[in-house]
Amino acid sequence: MKDKLEQIRKNAMEALKELDDLKQLEEFRVRTLGKKGELTLVLRGMGSLPPEERPVMGQLANEIRSAIEKALSEKTAELKNAALEKRLEAETIDVTVPGKMPRLGKLHPLTTVMNELKAVFLGMGFDVAEGPEVEWDSYNFDALNTPKNHPARDTQDTFYINEDILLRTHTSPVQIRTMLKQKPPIKIICPGRVYRSDAVDATHSPIFHQIEGLVVDKNITMGDLKGVLDVFAKRVFGPKTQTKFRPHHFPFTEPSAEVDVTCAICHGEGCRVCSYTGWIEILGAGMVHPNVLSYCNIDPEEYSGFAFGMGLDRITNLIYGIDDIRLLFENDIRFLKQF
Ligand code: DAH
Repeated sequence: MKDKLEQIRKNAMEALKELDDLKQLEEFRVRTLGKKGELTLVLRGMGSLPPEERPVMGQLANEIRSAIEKALSEKTAELKNAALEKRLEAETIDVTVPGKMPRLGKLHPLTTVMNELKAVFLGMGFDVAEGPEVEWDSYNFDALNTPKNHPARDTQDTFYINEDILLRTHTSPVQIRTMLKQKPPIKIICPGRVYRSDAVDATHSPIFHQIEGLVVDKNITMGDLKGVLDVFAKRVFGPKTQTKFRPHHFPFTEPSAEVDVTCAICHGEGCRVCSYTGWIEILGAGMVHPNVLSYCNIDPEEYSGFAFGMGLDRITNLIYGIDDIRLLFENDIRFLKQF
């Protein structure tokens, strides 16, 4: 029996040396030390030994078992270590390789210009007011001195939700909403989206944007209107910009004017952008009509005001030299990336 045990030890130690993966080690353990392993089988034969030899053999068997166990665990550790080394080597990362730049989004040019214009007016003490895009017909037209059969309604045909409700054709109804809930002094701008049933072409879109302005107080004059718009034009188009008021008609202002600025491209010389006139029309304006003030329960004998409305899309195109309004709405990334 002693020989058998020594043989097991010798075989086991030799076999261990040859093994080089963890699975093989486990098979080795089962084969050698397991319940049905070689060592166990030999020990089963202990019963046939003379009693005085049993403890000696038992001790020897234990010693061999722990020797093999020790060798096995050393070998296991060695293989695990080697595997780890190998993985670390395979997984090294080169921290000096340049990273991938994330793609950054940008503001749409309309948003950028809107923010700029807002900042100009906020700097002059205006508040920002807002109103709904789905609006009462009466606020969009009647309250603005444009009753049902008024010819001015023709030029602002729009999308009707029903008889009384429409998609607003301009930001002017926000004047009404503001005056109905706030007493003068009033000094607001109202930026927003507006709608008209226009066919799409290079200068028309059924959706576009306006900024409305309204100032109502005692002793407000056309001089105040001219001063505000002149500062506005110089801030937005450059300090040399001049403004020109041309008589016009709007139902909700009296007197009314269209306002031109000197062409930002040719500075008044005349070029393709300004159709060789040197001037570019940018907005409508005037003194708030007494009927409009009265509709809002503001006494036109006591108060006066001015109002203006400008097209944001057109101004954006002027600032960036864009020649087609459709580009602003197509959301083609190749176009938008340029700003
Ligand atoms: N609402 C007008 C339009 O869309 C623009 C306008 C003209 C607004 C004169 C005004 C104004 O406030 O006083 O054509």
